Amino acid sequence: MGDGDTWPLAADRDDPPALSVRRLSKRFGDRVAFEDVSFDVGRGEVFGFLGPNGAGKTTTVRALGTLIAPTSGSATVAGWPLEPENGMEIRRRIAVMPESPGLYLRLSVLENLELFADLYELADPRDRIERSLRAMDLTGRARDACGILSKGLRQRVALARALLGEPEVLFLDEPTAGLDPVAAREVHELIVGLRQRGVTIFLTTHRLEEAERLCDRVAILNTTLRSIGRPDELRDRLFARTLTVRTAAPLDAPDRVFGGLQAIEGWREDGRAHYVLAASDPDGAAPGVTRALVAAGADVLSITESRRSLEDVYLELIDGDVEAGPR
Ligand SMILES: Nc1ncnc2c1ncn2[C@@H]1O[C@H](COP(=O)(O)OP(=O)(O)O)[C@@H](O)[C@H]1O
Ligand SMILES: [Mg+2]
Repeated sequence: MGDGDTWPLAADRDDPPALSVRRLSKRFGDRVAFEDVSFDVGRGEVFGFLGPNGAGKTTTVRALGTLIAPTSGSATVAGWPLEPENGMEIRRRIAVMPESPGLYLRLSVLENLELFADLYELADPRDRIERSLRAMDLTGRARDACGILSKGLRQRVALARALLGEPEVLFLDEPTAGLDPVAAREVHELIVGLRQRGVTIFLTTHRLEEAERLCDRVAILNTTLRSIGRPDELRDRLFARTLTVRTAAPLDAPDRVFGGLQAIEGWREDGRAHYVLAASDPDGAAPGVTRALVAAGADVLSITESRRSLEDVYLELIDGDVEAGPR
């Protein structure tokens, strides 16, 4: 991964970013949880942190949330350098909703919020609790024991708890994991609502479509950052374009045919007499490919343009060699 400063900066340059992360790494002994991670998140942005299980998402949240110390690199969180002496200041401005809500199931929704409001030593807890309940549309459930609530409702209580301190930056660690589609959709709507209030949201997910739907920008992580950008940019960048060529018989020397063509960035054989060529401008490349094939004496059956799906490329990005990812 290159110099951290080359990453695209957040959209709003007037305000200091909500998060600014430079070459951050965390190791547990020999195990690398994440490495050399750099990005900025603008104020009010919904930033997606997308990656498979074990990619380092939760560890990144815990490091930025001041719960564990990074091994190397630097960051600012809500304007404060991520240093032990700033832990209190940072924690006053952020909230972390962990993967499992960690509510007291025998206590009511209200009692849970009261307990945490007390723990956070909030001034004016009653008002904060009421506002959190309203924001998460839970006022009618305040007296219900958390233990009888559905998973989706518990997740909403956890969100309400995270909102108690009115955070500038809210870390949501896989907020829809294990929820049914209806409950997941509800959480999505709540996140959209929070965004409209100007809360900066750092959302981890292993679900591509969730990142696409909710996030202003998305970073793809698998221990190292593989790509970062707006969903539509990632689409364009990741939708690698190819030409698929089928010939009547295998080419004698495919490298000689395809290797000399400037418009072709690479090629591979994908079955017998079936070639996949990488080309950023497939339309522009096709005539030259046809001429080269004819000159080589090949009988061309077809030349077609294809695009891999975003999902294909995502899987390849998180799976393959770091260098395999487009920049
Ligand atoms: N406290 C820990 N001690 C040792 N290894 C850990 C610890 N926490 C996380 N890891 C390791 O760091 C890697 C990233 O984990 P994690 O951040 O939980 O990934 P994700 O949230 O993306 O699924 C994994 O290999 C995990 O086993
Ligand atoms: Mg995790």
